[in-house]
Amino acid sequence: MTSSLLVTGATGRLGEAAVRLLAERGDRLLLTGRNAERLAELEKTFGEPGVVEVLHVDVSDPDGARRAAALAAERFDGLSGLVHLVGTFDVGPLMLTDVAAYQAVMASNFYSAVVTSQAVLPHLTDGGRLVFFGSPLAAEPMGGLSAYAAAKAALEAWVRSISHEVKKRGVHANLVSLTLVDTPEMRRERPGVVLDDTVSDELVARVIGFLTSEAADGLYGSVVPVVGKFGFASSLAGGPPAGRGPR
Ligand SMILES: NC(=O)c1ccc[n+]([C@@H]2O[C@H](COP(=O)([O-])OP(=O)(O)OC[C@H]3O[C@@H](n4cnc5c(N)ncnc54)[C@H](OP(=O)(O)O)[C@@H]3O)[C@@H](O)[C@H]2O)c1
Repeated sequence: MTSSLLVTGATGRLGEAAVRLLAERGDRLLLTGRNAERLAELEKTFGEPGVVEVLHVDVSDPDGARRAAALAAERFDGLSGLVHLVGTFDVGPLMLTDVAAYQAVMASNFYSAVVTSQAVLPHLTDGGRLVFFGSPLAAEPMGGLSAYAAAKAALEAWVRSISHEVKKRGVHANLVSLTLVDTPEMRRERPGVVLDDTVSDELVARVIGFLTSEAADGLYGSVVPVVGKFGFASSLAGGPPAGRGPR
């Protein structure tokens, strides 16, 4: 099955690997972002009129999202799904994070998904796909990440809720829950990260391919963990209780 997909936030870290896999599969793609320079690079690498096109637009604005969805549907004679890569990370303790910072993180990670889905859904046919990206921090939030964890928790609950609405018309809404992804930007910014706790962008791309394929026909409202070998650790989960050795 080839698809016609709107890929929003394609200009980010995961964009290139995802676009490569979908383009190689033969999908028709409209890539959006606000970063015109990065969009031009993607167009140079993948662009082909009527097959892979780019649109410079802010999909967190309802007009921008409607424009992107309508253009994709027009260029590809219908739209079969959305891969919504828009998001942002934020770290900082409560007392040093003002409300504007919370609002920006919510706008990027959560409200952008609402606005873009509202624009895309009228174009989706039976079997349509909505794919979103969350974090295990939504369920197990760590200190210092309250804005990000709250935004991803809102996104996850929202995806699971709307999945019940949209599945009535055959649309699959699912979320990929990611650990840190190993990208050149991540290696530059966080040189101390234990790479065993990360996953490659190519593995994430494969799961995007799966969720936008017939292989995922049975999934509605799923949270699909792509966390590699990462796991939360606690000293309380140490060895066996005293006096009990291995059996
Ligand atoms: N990379 C990771 O390690 C990781 C881990 C867990 C979850 N995730 C999630 O997976 C998704 C994709 O990850 P990523 O690393 O590719 O993300 P990213 O590079 O941080 O951002 C993706 C794109 O989102 C767009 N964007 C951000 N805020 C926006 C806003 N308010 N309005 C419109 N566009 C906005 C930006 O594009 P423009 O600047 O061009 O608009 C950006 O290039 C995100 O939701 C992210 O939170 C990623």
